[in-house]
Parts: sequence; structure tokens; C-alpha cells
Amino acid sequence: MENNLEEVKAILKKYGQGHLLNHYDKLDDFHKKKLLEQINEIDFELVNSLYENTKKEIKNSKDEITPIDYLDKFKLGDRYKYYEEIGKKAIKEGKLAAVTMAGGQGTRLGHDGPKGTYDIGLDSHKSLFELLCDGIKEEGKKYGVTIPWFIMTSRENNEATVKFFKEHKYFGYEKDKNLFFFIQGELPMMDTEGKILIGEDGLIKLAADGHGGIYESLVKTGMTKKMREMGVEWVFIGGVDNCLVKMVDPVLMGIAIDKEVTVACKSVVKANPHERVGVFCKRNGKPNVIEYTEITDEMAEATDKDGELLYGESHILCNLFSVGAIERMGAEPLPYHVAYKKATYMDKDGNLVVPDSPNAYKFEAFLFDAFSEVDDMAILRVKREEEFAPVKNADSAGVDCPSTARELYKKFYKLD
Ligand code: UD1
Repeated sequence: MENNLEEVKAILKKYGQGHLLNHYDKLDDFHKKKLLEQINEIDFELVNSLYENTKKEIKNSKDEITPIDYLDKFKLGDRYKYYEEIGKKAIKEGKLAAVTMAGGQGTRLGHDGPKGTYDIGLDSHKSLFELLCDGIKEEGKKYGVTIPWFIMTSRENNEATVKFFKEHKYFGYEKDKNLFFFIQGELPMMDTEGKILIGEDGLIKLAADGHGGIYESLVKTGMTKKMREMGVEWVFIGGVDNCLVKMVDPVLMGIAIDKEVTVACKSVVKANPHERVGVFCKRNGKPNVIEYTEITDEMAEATDKDGELLYGESHILCNLFSVGAIERMGAEPLPYHVAYKKATYMDKDGNLVVPDSPNAYKFEAFLFDAFSEVDDMAILRVKREEEFAPVKNADSAGVDCPSTARELYKKFYKLD
């Protein structure tokens, strides 16, 4: 360990992060080893460039944003059956897998635990994980297959997530046969001076690197290899917080196969011009999503000759990829977006600081930034009431909260 310590000191000196060892001597052997391992894993060049970027205003204004074409699932006419048959055949042949992104905690919902373990208040008291599992099992049955299910956790919630699944007998799935867990990547948090933070355990303060890290994580953790071994060619990736997510959709799959695109996404019509959702667009000619934080009022309100919003196809995090597209996206670095957050940390004198306002940068990549890797993709407009019931906020917010999701779920499954 001592040798390693000298090497680590040299690295930290080079990158101006020497403070990371300020409390090293006070740590027990386990934490000493862990801290050195963490430091060895950090890409300091990347971390420094992320910090430099926080000083620049990221200017996307030069990007040329234009509307993107979509298909309406319920206006396909004869093509509906045609696509459906193509998709059904591929699903029956075991070519589809699903990934649920479940790296987040239920903090915003006042829930202490992984978001997927949250009970939205149905009479059954099923968790989000169980509701999603019911859906994927039911869909698989229709085609006589068990859809392999991959759950992306974060370092923070992996143990609790796996424990929860185990306690519920994996909801009838078989771990390591058709149910797999993998952990998403992390990046250090830093203060406004560019110094990496140390947490209360004396270790580096790490935070999940956003769902854009999913491609790299799927490749690095061997999941794409596993998928290929299983004969999987298509992967649906969705969020854990949409209790109506439809992970198995032969029409979407048939469209992707028929149109020979490697990415096919679902959209719903934006509820109103200022709904807090990203919308599909073309950015400099390539498919992309423009986030609600980024779109101008003028663009958000613009309509076409039929009075429909020009940017009205909401991104609902229901996206289908070929395995090859995931591998290619995993090999290319994505831009990181910076968020300014509250983070408890240990100061240079070893005192724990609990801030009451944001004090730290967190870096996140967004899954849809990788869309520009492809020249074309298919967008399929589906019905909101059938496929989108997000649980994002506490009930006090009144939108995208447990009560709204519960009502949509009950209505769809005719539970009342
Ligand atoms: C997201 C989309 C937005 C879309 C909306 C639809 C982003 C930046 N924006 O917004 O375009 O219209 O959903 O509901 O995503 N997750 C991880 N690990 C992470 C971060 C997120 O697993 O590091 C998972 C969460 O558990 C969740 C999903 O990704 O299942 C969405 O993340 P969230 O941060 O809640 O995105 P939104 O701001 O709601």
C-alpha cells in the first residue's frame, strides 16, 4: 500500500488534488485501501476538463434545431399489422431484451430507498419494480418467451435493490438466467474551486454519472456480450419511474427492423407547450432531444399549418436500440451536463459540513445525447394514457406524482 501511496501522491500533486489525502492517516486500513483504489480509478484529465467547462457558458445557440418526422401508431393503417408481424416474429425468436434504468433514489418522493422500491399506493401495494415486472412478464407470455431483463442500479442503491428483489423472490424471474443487475458509472463531485469533495466516510464523494453512462456501463459490465450470447439483437431501455412503461412493443420493433434504423423511440404528444419534458428534434441534421430547460418559449409554442406543436413529440424515455448501436455509443464519450447541488462533505480540517444551499458540481451525461451518433431513427407516437404515467415528484407538486400515476394505472388496467 505504501508504494501505491507515493504514486498516488504524485498523481494528486500533478492535478492539484493533494487535499484528498488530508485525512488519510486517520482512516482504518479498509478505508485507506478503498480511498487509494478510488483515486486510481479517477480520470483526472476528464475531471479537470469538466471543471473547466463549468466556467464556460455552454452555448448551444449555434445549433440548428429543426422538427423531426414521426409516425403515429394509430394512423398506420394497414402498415400497423405489417410492422406488428415483423416485430412479433423477432420477439418470438428471443431477439428482444429490456433494460430498466433504476440508479436513482426515491428522495424527491420522500422515500428512503431505491426509487423502484416505491409503493405508489395501489390497493395491491406493489412497488414500481413489481408493476414493471408484471408488465414485462405479461407481454413476454403473449409471445411464449421470457424477456431477459437487465436492471441498472447505482453504487448507492445496488445492494438495497438486489436485496429487495431477493426478498420478493425476484418476482418470478431467475437471477443470472433472465434477470441481471449491473451498476452504472460514477464521477467525483467537486466544489466551486475544482477540488474533489471528500464525504463523511473519508472517501471520495462520488455521484452517479447520469443515464448517458448506460451505454458504456452495459459494455463494460459485460451485459452487451451476454445479450449477444443469448441471441438478443434489440434492447428496450426505459426508466423505472413510468409505471405504464410498455417494454415489449412489436410495432416499434417491426418499424425499426423494416426501416433499417438502429434506434427507435416512442413519443407522446406534449400535454401543453410548457410541459416539463424533453422533445424530439433534429440538431444540426441529426436526431436529438431538446430538454425543457433548453427550449425557448417561441419554439415551444410554434405550431404547424394544422395547429400541431412543431416540437410536440415528448421524449418519454422509451427507446429501442440495436445491440450494435449500444456498443458504438458506449465507445464514444458523451458531453456532460453540470448540475449545482447540495453535498455534505468533510472540510480540510476534518469537520463535516452540511450545506443549506448548493455548493457542489455534479456531472451527468444524458442518454439522448448519443442519438446524434445515428443519421436516422424512427419515432413512434403512442397514446399517453396507455404508456406514460411517470412518478417524479411528491404529491404536493400535483403533476407526475404518485396520485396522478396511480389514477392513470388504475384507469388503464380498469381497477376501479
Ligand atoms: C427525463 C428526461 C426528459 C423526459 C422525461 C420523461 C433527462 C435528462 N430528461 O427527465 O427528456 O422527457 O424524463 O419522463 O433524463 N436515472 C438513472 N441514473 C442516473 C440518472 C437517472 O438510472 O444517473 C434514471 C432514473 O432512475 C429514472 C430515469 O433515469 O428512471 C429518468 O431520470 P430523471 O433524472 O428522473 O429525468 P427527468 O428530469 O425526469
